[in-house]
Amino acid sequence: MPAISASAPGKVILFGEHAVVYGRPAIAIPLSQVQAKAIVYASPRSQPGQIEIDAPDIELKAGLDDLPPGHPFALLIQKIQSRLGVERLPALRLQIHSSIPIASGLGSGAAISVAMIRALAGFMGRELPVQEVSELAYEIEKIYHGTPSGIDNTVIAYAQPIFFVRSQPFQTLHLALPLTLVVADSGLRSSTAAVVGEVRQRWQADPAPYEQIFDAIGEIALQARAEVETGRAAELGRLMSANHRRLQALGVSCPELDRLVEAALQNGAAGAKLCGAGRGGNMVALTTSENAPHLVTALRQAGAKNAFVSILRPAAGPIQG
Ligand code: PMV
Repeated sequence: MPAISASAPGKVILFGEHAVVYGRPAIAIPLSQVQAKAIVYASPRSQPGQIEIDAPDIELKAGLDDLPPGHPFALLIQKIQSRLGVERLPALRLQIHSSIPIASGLGSGAAISVAMIRALAGFMGRELPVQEVSELAYEIEKIYHGTPSGIDNTVIAYAQPIFFVRSQPFQTLHLALPLTLVVADSGLRSSTAAVVGEVRQRWQADPAPYEQIFDAIGEIALQARAEVETGRAAELGRLMSANHRRLQALGVSCPELDRLVEAALQNGAAGAKLCGAGRGGNMVALTTSENAPHLVTALRQAGAKNAFVSILRPAAGPIQG
């Protein structure tokens, strides 16, 4: 039997992280420059149910039965089996590769889940509807994140720019113009569950100021939606920077991210912000295609461990949700 493979993109939250956990709107886009890929090979000489996992990028090489109880991969495989209605999968080897840096705001956990779900379903001759792929990945997001909004699994499973409100059908965003983004990595790894948990604790202790910040971020995301759809890049950039200031007020930025955001603004970006949970990971800046190479160099000089250009082009497509 030939190997079956599936891949999934990373993601960038352009507006609304953290506030989206509290029901405010957010905007996220897929990031195809980085990908997770899962490849399933049959192991005809092994016993049914014997599953070998080889994921060098996260330094995991183990049999499924050797994983600690509650490991996200073990849980995901259990859920896939039950969704496919099989008691156990045939013997197989599952290889996972990912160019998405882990714990850095680009959706590595959700992308690995989505790639695994699609590859294992494909191996069993099945193709699950996108919504089910997203829902299965959401179950695993709960292990990684604690209280995920669902934005990561949604944008990655559908691989489209989305306007997202928790527990509501999402909407596909239609871009008026291409967006040239530069994504830069602070090099610091940060746990989404820890940062989201800290925000929750502070919100519980004193809700009013946090509710105000969440409202302000939600308002920015709403305005940004109109700008994405009409294509006013300068205004969109201004809103990204305004969003970053609210994330600073929320206490989820850090000096390294602030330095990169500042460097972006001083080197021709229309706007810039951290993306994802913060306290490390990546930031994103909006610029022109002419300025993008210069901005990549400037961000590396300002301390980015990696920086690359991502151009998001308008694509006609149906509204889904
Ligand atoms: O850091 P990431 O890529 O896991 O993004 C988290 C986004 C948050 O809004 C902080 C959490 C969530 O579940 O939406």
